Amino acid sequence: MHDIQCLGVYTSGGDAPGMNACLRATVRTALANDLEVVGIRRGYEGMIDGDFVEMDRRSVSNIVQTGGTILKSARSTDFLTEEGRTRAADNLERYDVDGLIAIGGDGTFRGASKLNDEHGIPVVGCPGTIDNDLFGTDTTIGYDTALNTAIENIDRIRDTADAHNRLFLIEVMGRDAGFIALNCGIGGGAELILIPETITEMDMIKERIFSLMSAQRRSTIVVVAEGDELGGARGIEQALREDPTFEDIDLRSTILGHIQRGGAPTAGDRVLASRLGVAAVEALLDGHTDVMVGFVNGETKLTPLRNVYSRKKSIDYDLLKLTQILS
Ligand code: F6P
Repeated sequence: MHDIQCLGVYTSGGDAPGMNACLRATVRTALANDLEVVGIRRGYEGMIDGDFVEMDRRSVSNIVQTGGTILKSARSTDFLTEEGRTRAADNLERYDVDGLIAIGGDGTFRGASKLNDEHGIPVVGCPGTIDNDLFGTDTTIGYDTALNTAIENIDRIRDTADAHNRLFLIEVMGRDAGFIALNCGIGGGAELILIPETITEMDMIKERIFSLMSAQRRSTIVVVAEGDELGGARGIEQALREDPTFEDIDLRSTILGHIQRGGAPTAGDRVLASRLGVAAVEALLDGHTDVMVGFVNGETKLTPLRNVYSRKKSIDYDLLKLTQILS
């Protein structure tokens, strides 16, 4: 058991729809356990600057349905230094914060682990990233919303692609992981899906696209993850335009970008975020630290933070095979 009187909570790294629902659950669970709660604004940047705000029940009213994060977020370079982390720990002490809930992705958890190791501050993480690339949880807060946003936009592009018999290269987010690309590609009926987890060879891609377009298709959609090694949608577009074989193929590319990060969270993300927020505070009060609360096979599960950020979550290769059958 940890004797925690004052809980600090923050969101860090890329924001994700559902972070607010998680904050709400965290704050209300802490208050229900008679803790004081301090919100740390702008993630580790705010921790270093002492940008702290007291939280009560009403400070998290009416946010379960909103995207973004009311505490704001940042990617902090100062926190990568020992000096930055010491300043952050000094501020936590100044505000009597004796336990933390960190909502974010692998970068957030690396930082949280360091605070735990170097300054002995108990911390539990909640997985918040649209990329779904965290080991220790089947799904992350924000992923379901981002996936549905991507699919909705692929559907729209399909309409116009179909009207003009065009080839569309659609780039979706995922710097290091293809979860969004793979699943929105399947759900959006893409003819080809390119992800960082597999080797993408330009010659093979050209051949496949050419045969798809030659088969008198009405339209062809290729979904490319941002982190795919051929340079995303723009990289492939350039290669195709430079190749005379594709001279007669009407081709466009679209980068969906940050629209995937915004918007109201889906029901699934709101419920997941609420469950994980509650479970994170309970885990901390039960004496756990340096762990993330994930959701695995329908149950909450704790995983050491070092496993979360050092292991890679595998994509479902069976899903990838499906595209070949379905396209
Ligand atoms: O980590 C989530 C994510 O949206 C990635 O998919 C993307 O590569 C990155 O964040 C973009 O980050 P930023 O908004 O800082 O450019």
